[in-house]
Amino acid sequence: MTVTHDGATRTNNKKLLDWVDEVAKLCEPDRIYWCDGSQEEYDRLCGELVDAGVFTRLNPQKRPNSYLARSHPSDVARVENRTFICSAREEDAGPTNNWMDPKKMRAILDEKFKGCMHGRTMYIIPFSMGPLGSDIAHIGFEITDSAYVVVNQRIMTRMGQAVLDVLGDDGEFVPCVHSVGAPLEADEKDVTWPCAPNIDDKYITHYPETREIWSYGSGYGGNALLGKKCLALRIASVMARDDGWLAEHMLILGIESPEGKKTYVSAAFPSACGKTNLAMLIPPESIKQEGWKVTTIGDDIAWIKPKDDGKFYAINPEYGFFGVAPGTNYESNPNAMESLKENCIFTNCALTDDGDIWWEGMTKEPPAHAIDWKGNDWNPGVGTPSAHPNSRFTAPASQCPSIDPDWENPAGVPISAFIFGGRVSHNFPLVYQGYNWEHGVYMAATMGSEATAAAIGQEAMRRDPMAMLPFIGYNMAEYWKHWLRIGRSHVATPPRIFRVNWFRKDEKGKFIWPGFGENMRALQWVVERCTTGAEAIESPMGWVPPYEALDWTGLDFDKKLYYAIMNIDREVARKEANDQEELFTRFGDHLPREMELEREMLLQRLHHSPQVWDLSATA
Ligand code: GTP
Ligand code: SPV
Ligand code: MN
Repeated sequence: MTVTHDGATRTNNKKLLDWVDEVAKLCEPDRIYWCDGSQEEYDRLCGELVDAGVFTRLNPQKRPNSYLARSHPSDVARVENRTFICSAREEDAGPTNNWMDPKKMRAILDEKFKGCMHGRTMYIIPFSMGPLGSDIAHIGFEITDSAYVVVNQRIMTRMGQAVLDVLGDDGEFVPCVHSVGAPLEADEKDVTWPCAPNIDDKYITHYPETREIWSYGSGYGGNALLGKKCLALRIASVMARDDGWLAEHMLILGIESPEGKKTYVSAAFPSACGKTNLAMLIPPESIKQEGWKVTTIGDDIAWIKPKDDGKFYAINPEYGFFGVAPGTNYESNPNAMESLKENCIFTNCALTDDGDIWWEGMTKEPPAHAIDWKGNDWNPGVGTPSAHPNSRFTAPASQCPSIDPDWENPAGVPISAFIFGGRVSHNFPLVYQGYNWEHGVYMAATMGSEATAAAIGQEAMRRDPMAMLPFIGYNMAEYWKHWLRIGRSHVATPPRIFRVNWFRKDEKGKFIWPGFGENMRALQWVVERCTTGAEAIESPMGWVPPYEALDWTGLDFDKKLYYAIMNIDREVARKEANDQEELFTRFGDHLPREMELEREMLLQRLHHSPQVWDLSATA
């Protein structure tokens, strides 16, 4: 076998070179190629992907330097039941993760990876999660046989030679191995989206003790862009536990008040529940005129470290957005639309007759004709969506008009509040604040949410603690303990904790709260609670804003409607608190005592609270 190994001359890091050799021996690629991360390389690889029929170049007048990819119909989202945490002990993975003995998994994967890159190029991608050289950032290397992954990684991470320079001769990195799992034998012709179509042949595997990632059989999103969910959440959550920080499924945004004071908040929502929209929020016109401004740091992942001043500093480890396409439009998210004007990759969107992309909800009027995400002719009458519900855009974060001037600050930005929000249609209030750190952690840990298209095969409603259910790299109950500990050891200024819910529906199934830009009103209350101290009423759930505490300028949303989305039905709340016991008992001895204590205190408050705590009574 002859392999080009040119890039190897650019590093003397022995651990890296040995690892690349070892993986090459196992996977038996035709070529080895070290990525330099340059524009020239990106353009060349995109050109090759066009020639191979993987990419369609979009009309350069409409969407310069942008491409559309269509995946295999079986490879459209994360595969949670094929995602494994292979810690030495099963209880270290905990009851919410799929666990397999690392020895057993290594034996399975050795078989799978043996010769899996026949006929393909093995790309080596040096990448940094976080600004290069930041003390919050970490370096990873992804070995992949997918050029699609390479070009996406160039948008999603800081990638290339500069990373090798920072790494040096003995720097640490997280090794990530990825294969689409489709070796090409002899004269076999490639398909446009190679993958292992059978779901049971896919493995998204993490070894938390050795901090390694091995992913096989899928080319899509979080399954394949290993810096994102695999490194920046699952492996990083383990590093964060060991070293006293937080790796969270959170957006980060800045809110500037009319007085010019900037407050940063970080918010966790499950997949496809509105992080991108909230991160890029544009306040309603009337509130903008009052002098409020919102800026974006990140839309999916936050790495947060408490520093010596007792404050929590956050960075966005990513460099781009891998956002849900459907529903994105100039009303719901103008900043996203502006970010998508050029230099983007679209996956599983529809192709219009003039060579542009489209998805459900992008414009009020659908195009009369398009090619759908499966490559078939489509028109609005066919009865199936033109874009897959989990179709995505990959866009450089620097193109976002609301990007914060400090988004690449290696020191991060100080976080004043954590917000947690699920997708709950019934009986869950718009916004409220926890009484203290412990209560806040309990609120976050018991979060529930309805299923979305971001993962394959989810049940309708599930608990999604901290929006981390699919992303925690160790025992969830130990993760709660870590949260409790980290707040306590920085007692002077731990961020305040809030819960929100934009998704309450009326009897007809319509969202009651207008959402999107109007979510600003909840954010203003959050910021004021953290700074000047906005008005709040004690309720069994936590501090809730009376109608008068929110800024209603420019929105006709009357008191009755407000109480309809704020009201807490005691019986339902009691049932909910009772149901939480089922979650808690799964963790046995690992459950922190505080969780059960908080649950019991909530039940007590629901039982004993005077009527005046009911918001409906003040309406
Ligand atoms: P991942 O990238 O999968 O982690 O998800 P995300 O949280 O970034 O998801 P995203 O922001 O793309 O969520 C998109 C979905 O949330 C779409 O279905 C939107 O219509 C919906 N959404 C976002 N904000 C709101 C809101 O304020 N109200 C309502 N009703 N829906 C919203
Ligand atoms: C999510 O599912 O939460 C995502 C998309 O952000 S993916 O990167 O595919 O996991
Ligand atoms: Mn996500």
